[in-house]
Amino acid sequence: MRELSLHILDASENSLEAGATRIELIIDEELAADRLTITIRDNGRGMSEGQLARVFDPFFTTRSTRHVGLGIPLFKAAAERCNGGLTISSQLGEGTTLEATFQHSHIDRAPLGDIVGTLLAIILSESSCNVHYVHRVDSREFEFCTAHIRAELGDIPLTHPAVRRWLQAFIAAGEEELKQSVPLAQ
Ligand SMILES: Nc1ncnc2c1ncn2[C@@H]1O[C@H](COP(=O)(O)OP(=O)(O)OP(=O)(O)O)[C@@H](O)[C@H]1O
Ligand SMILES: [Mg+2]
Repeated sequence: MRELSLHILDASENSLEAGATRIELIIDEELAADRLTITIRDNGRGMSEGQLARVFDPFFTTRSTRHVGLGIPLFKAAAERCNGGLTISSQLGEGTTLEATFQHSHIDRAPLGDIVGTLLAIILSESSCNVHYVHRVDSREFEFCTAHIRAELGDIPLTHPAVRRWLQAFIAAGEEELKQSVPLAQ
């Protein structure tokens, strides 16, 4: 895929399909170590050992609409192409954690892409699921949790047009700030 955010969207959709009420998404860019790590942790229904053993098999899916599940195999292939890898741990009834690593500077590493649009799609798709997002670039970070935002909003839903616009601007500003270079110490 052209953008890592599409893999993130796909993995988050797996979490939502597994009934998660909380998704934690951590993007960790360690520039000195030349490593990019994406962690997606959910509290969904999890997988049995048998399911977990087959999750990298493109012909394993619990979808009833078609017979292949390509999301995870494609994410894993992308990571492996960039001197990284993908691991999944899962506990039935507890949840699932997916971790993908990439060599940050690898020529084949796709850019993160439209992370703002992706986050909005995840946040607004399922009204009962909270998203905790952390994006670190070395020692700087942008972080938020929709549970806190919901608490501030009271009865107003995240899908309210004004809230949606605010969320979009808030996430875009947080991401933009991360891209700025660190000011030199005085
Ligand atoms: N977070 C998760 N929690 C529980 N089960 C999961 C999770 N992620 C994946 N699975 C299981 O692994 C299967 C394969 O996932 P994968 O993303 O590769 O394919 P898919 O979601 O079935 O189809 P596609 O991603 O191509 O639309 C899923 O059908 C589901 O049974
Ligand atoms: Mg999937």
